[in-house]
Amino acid sequence: MALILALESSCDDSAAALVDSDRHILAHAIISQNDAHRPYGGVVPEIAARAHVEILPGLIRQVLDEAGIAIADVDGIAATAGPGLIGGVMVALLAGKGLALAAGKPLIAVNHLEGHALSPRLVDPDLGFPYLLLLVSGGHCQLLEVRGVGDYRRLATTIDDAAGEAFDKAAKLLGLSYPGGPALEALAADGDPQAVPLPRPLLGSPEPHFSFAGLKSAVQRAVVSGVHRREDVAASFQQAVLDCLVDRTAKAFEVSDASTLVVAGGVAANASVRTALANLAKARGLRFSVPPSWLCTDNAAMIAWAGSERLAAGLTDTRDAPARARWPLDEQADKVRGAGVKA
Ligand code: KG4
Ligand code: ZN
Repeated sequence: MALILALESSCDDSAAALVDSDRHILAHAIISQNDAHRPYGGVVPEIAARAHVEILPGLIRQVLDEAGIAIADVDGIAATAGPGLIGGVMVALLAGKGLALAAGKPLIAVNHLEGHALSPRLVDPDLGFPYLLLLVSGGHCQLLEVRGVGDYRRLATTIDDAAGEAFDKAAKLLGLSYPGGPALEALAADGDPQAVPLPRPLLGSPEPHFSFAGLKSAVQRAVVSGVHRREDVAASFQQAVLDCLVDRTAKAFEVSDASTLVVAGGVAANASVRTALANLAKARGLRFSVPPSWLCTDNAAMIAWAGSERLAAGLTDTRDAPARARWPLDEQADKVRGAGVKA
């Protein structure tokens, strides 16, 4: 049994957690900076980085105290080393290096996306490799074949916006405050998903890639037209995203032998997304796994779990481990034509 202390600060959530290799979450703590970023309508990297410096040390103390654990009792220190907002990434990584050095513990520099990718295994002990992963977050929208720890094959990505980014932009157009995804889901609950005709970009196209920029523009036109209820625009937008996610995921199974579908990342906290993908799995006779919503949005428990899996595989890092703003899970994946910076 190995006990991992993990630190996360790659976007706007500061988080720390203690998790062991037997899947016990001894303690986890998270402070979201929503209030600090709300006036700007999105995350301001400089504000986020400074806030992590102030918040993270207290969270580390808090989880150790809550679990009654001394730093000498842990077996490894895991820290997110990217991808993300570089100023923030550096905070957890450097804190992790300091702790590892001072306490004489191994350092595990974790890819945040690997945290999302392996998170379902923390709560689903029977989930074995390989599985097909729909990773939907604020910065990423990918279909990956997860073959093992550190072994990923990217089957598809977005050629423009990520799914969470689309939710956030549509929410902003609807006058909802940051963070937009959960607010849009709540508004959509009172709307008619068929009321507003919206496009389903790339639906039915031969490769399982995603595109959401055109959908966002259509939402803008629908809002400006003034003829639709906001609730109906929200519900119709959410339905369009669902249709794309389901169609593209079904397509990916044509080029993968996996018989399990897994959904993870912040957008997987959305109840309609969870249901739509569960229904796809059921219709196709696939095993389905999705972590609880709190484990889908950013947290340090998933970083601890990825750290635990990497430590068990002998994958530790040295104190010169770099902080990486970009860090694809599948380094071999081809660039997709039209794809922006969101690898
Ligand atoms: O994984 P995550 O917490 O951070 C990143 O690594 O990006 O994902 C955040 C994204 C945001 O775009 C947020 O709006 C979206 O996930 N999100 C949601 C919901 N909760 C979070 N989108 C739709 N419905 C939700 N309930
Ligand atoms: Zn994330």
